[in-house]
Amino acid sequence: MVVGSTSRSLNRYVTTSISSRNNRSLPLGSPGFTGRLILISKMTSAEHVKNIAVVGASGLVGGAILKSLLESGNFNVTAISRQDSSATFPSDVTVKKGDYKSPEFLESALQGQDVLILTFAAMTPPEVQSDFIKAAAKAGVPWILPNEYGQDGANPELAKVVGLLGMKERYRNEIEELGVSSWIGIVNNLWFDFSLKGGFFGIGIAARKAEIYDDGSTSIVTTTVPQVGRAIARLLSLPVQSSSPCLSDYKNKFVYITSFSVTQNDMLAAVQHATGTTPADWTVTHKPLDQWMQEGREMFAKGERMGMINVLYGATFKKGLGDQFHGRELANEKLGLEEEDLDEVVQRIVKEVEAK
Ligand SMILES: NC(=O)c1ccc[n+]([C@@H]2O[C@H](COP(=O)([O-])OP(=O)(O)OC[C@H]3O[C@@H](n4cnc5c(N)ncnc54)[C@H](OP(=O)(O)O)[C@@H]3O)[C@@H](O)[C@H]2O)c1
Repeated sequence: MVVGSTSRSLNRYVTTSISSRNNRSLPLGSPGFTGRLILISKMTSAEHVKNIAVVGASGLVGGAILKSLLESGNFNVTAISRQDSSATFPSDVTVKKGDYKSPEFLESALQGQDVLILTFAAMTPPEVQSDFIKAAAKAGVPWILPNEYGQDGANPELAKVVGLLGMKERYRNEIEELGVSSWIGIVNNLWFDFSLKGGFFGIGIAARKAEIYDDGSTSIVTTTVPQVGRAIARLLSLPVQSSSPCLSDYKNKFVYITSFSVTQNDMLAAVQHATGTTPADWTVTHKPLDQWMQEGREMFAKGERMGMINVLYGATFKKGLGDQFHGRELANEKLGLEEEDLDEVVQRIVKEVEAK
């Protein structure tokens, strides 16, 4: 079965739900059967998944994922959005707006989906993701991409420093414990475009100011937001099961992707090039990385949430900690995902900043 295959082979069939995990092996109507009937996709193993629901598809990474899924032409895409959201979606997307506090809405929105992609704004209450995970199990959704899209959740040393990272484990565990869906976590490290535009890499494009941590020479792996979208469309276009690469290779695992690796010094040089400025036009200061991280911890302790940035980005600039995906295999090649050109990306970002 080739990528982009039609629904001809996507026969629907009746199976049991997960009211008891063991029920799944009981025939319909047999004495021990207590499950409800649900419909899920039956695909041959050489096909790719077809029906994809994206939560938060109006957001930054969700929007990029939606765009790439639609551009691939391989999928039926549903956007699930909050009842009171003002988000709008392209006409070729099925839209399901409803009350996230209603388990019935969540389950019905997920019926027949092969994949649930979760993206949430940072301040979303944690139970929202858990409720989606439970509903996906009830609806029999085989695959979930939980709200990761960041640093390496399989790096315990990094999770000790970046508390937010450790908190994401809960959702992966919930998926595994329910025993219906499998998770695939997208690890892209910090978003390059988002971070450079926001000044989080210590480089203020408009202000022509830079703060360089240590000597600015640590090379960090990083990914643009559109590249995350492309990676997910490629991943979900793999056959579910066949000779490698296939989607099942990543069952309950992380997928590591990148646009490129870059140092703070390289970023500054690329920004100077894209803005047509010289080092003389810039105010550049230096700070020990550990001091910057400590300042962040102190800010956070005083209730200043922005202190989190110093810790998050500091852990990434720390050699041997969050700078690279230590010992992990990059999936770029298997996904046919080319690295990006630093200068081109920076030029695009500079244009966006200067257009403001
Ligand atoms: N690697 C990095 O550098 C990096 C940076 C930032 C974030 N991230 C990760 O990526 C995730 C997504 O970030 P993002 O910037 O794409 O998110 P976002 O654009 O801020 O929000 C995504 C969507 O969440 C929905 N939403 C907003 N408030 C909500 C609420 N209270 N309850 C439920 N849904 C709500 C909205 O969709 P509707 O209006 O359609 O409901 C919104 O479009 C973050 O949670 C974080 O884990 C990574």
